[in-house]
Amino acid sequence: MSFRMTRRAFCGAMAGTAGLAALPVRAAGPQTLTARAATAQIAPPKYAATEVWSYDGTLPGPVLRVPQGGRVTRRLANELPVPTSIHWHGIRIDNAMDGVAGLTQEAVPPGEAFDYDFTVPDAGTYWYHAHTNSFEQVARGLAGALIVEEADAPEVDRDEVLVLDDWLLNPENAQFMEPFGHMMSLSHGGRFGNLLGTNGTYDYAREVRANERLRLRLINASNARIFVLRLAGLDGWTVALDGMPLPAPEPVEAELILAPAQRIDLIVDVTAEDGETAALVRFDDDDQSRPQARFPVAGTASATRRDTPAALPPNPRMEVPGIDSARRLDMAMEGGAMGRMSGAMMNGRSMGFREMAGQGQFWALSGQVGMTDTPFASLDRGETVRVKLTNDTAFAHAMHLHGMHFRQVAEDGTLGQMRDTILSTPDEPLEIAFVADNPGKWLFHCHMLGHAASGMTTWINVS
Ligand code: C2O
Ligand code: CU
Repeated sequence: MSFRMTRRAFCGAMAGTAGLAALPVRAAGPQTLTARAATAQIAPPKYAATEVWSYDGTLPGPVLRVPQGGRVTRRLANELPVPTSIHWHGIRIDNAMDGVAGLTQEAVPPGEAFDYDFTVPDAGTYWYHAHTNSFEQVARGLAGALIVEEADAPEVDRDEVLVLDDWLLNPENAQFMEPFGHMMSLSHGGRFGNLLGTNGTYDYAREVRANERLRLRLINASNARIFVLRLAGLDGWTVALDGMPLPAPEPVEAELILAPAQRIDLIVDVTAEDGETAALVRFDDDDQSRPQARFPVAGTASATRRDTPAALPPNPRMEVPGIDSARRLDMAMEGGAMGRMSGAMMNGRSMGFREMAGQGQFWALSGQVGMTDTPFASLDRGETVRVKLTNDTAFAHAMHLHGMHFRQVAEDGTLGQMRDTILSTPDEPLEIAFVADNPGKWLFHCHMLGHAASGMTTWINVS
């Protein structure tokens, strides 16, 4: 506020100064991202527009693009009726800017603002979303893409951001079904939409030309849905996961699995011909495939099929050294419908499943239900850590670590791709390893947002 006052006073003083009138007018303060109510035509035109919560009135929020190593400055102006905050998912960020209400900042009350200001060390596809009552706020639309551009980006004809989502709408009036935290969805797989789509609409289409090369940036912004995808009339390679480049492009041969919060960067060539329609296709629960995003082909680009693209330039700090001597931690996921629970502590008190459920809580991470004052682990800055995840539940969970990327450790000790969100399936233990090189308080939680709200949230301290 004081900054604004000074600025205004300064501008006022300027206005009266002859000879300076021709100076370019600059906006005072950082650019604003306004969280506010809006309407969006998510459903087919015969339905009403849906009342959503948005950033700057659009669904999803505006695509923010910034060069690698650059700075993001955004003033979150909260015009919602509820407190909110923004998390910059996957950015290895300064802890104070991580946006977790109650841990790294206070939620921003209605009518107030918060200035986010941070640099982005890694190029890639990231996203931003509300991190206050996320299970409701993200479902209402508070999410958008954050693209960090490589200095030396691969040559493509189009760079397309595809924010995949689903919405649970009342078929009568196309408005969100409430409550958002329904007991049934919290204790089971989560809140699934009955309408699926991309970039805020049930039928996203973008015209392309035959032979064009596209970079597709897939982001799963849904609360709980694991997208199973394949390409039709498109052929190409996966070049990055969760923003982080693969050492070499991998041909897309099998289905792509995209768990909540995960991202996949693809470089694909349009192999469909003029007049046909290429598509990103998803498989639904009934095993039918349906278009998730359509690419009608109009015209033909001169280039014919091209070679494998070069790998994206690596980001800094992608190594996870010292695996053998790393500190080892165990995290057991328990609870949920049909799951087991060996004993749970909530707010420092041990509790049975029945009592937990009475408080809308269904899950535990290593015996703890939700946030506590003591972190799941206190790590020394710079140390390498291995965390073994055991899924003793009947559901899949998309586990996300804030502030640092990790790699999966295979049984033979080899390391997988760098990720910030990993899908854990029942009875398939997995292990991750990371360097605790970012000081601060970092959440570790399930990105099935209803699960996060009902027990599957803990945190790690790095100092
Ligand atoms: Cu994308 Cu803690 O979240
Ligand atoms: Cu979960």
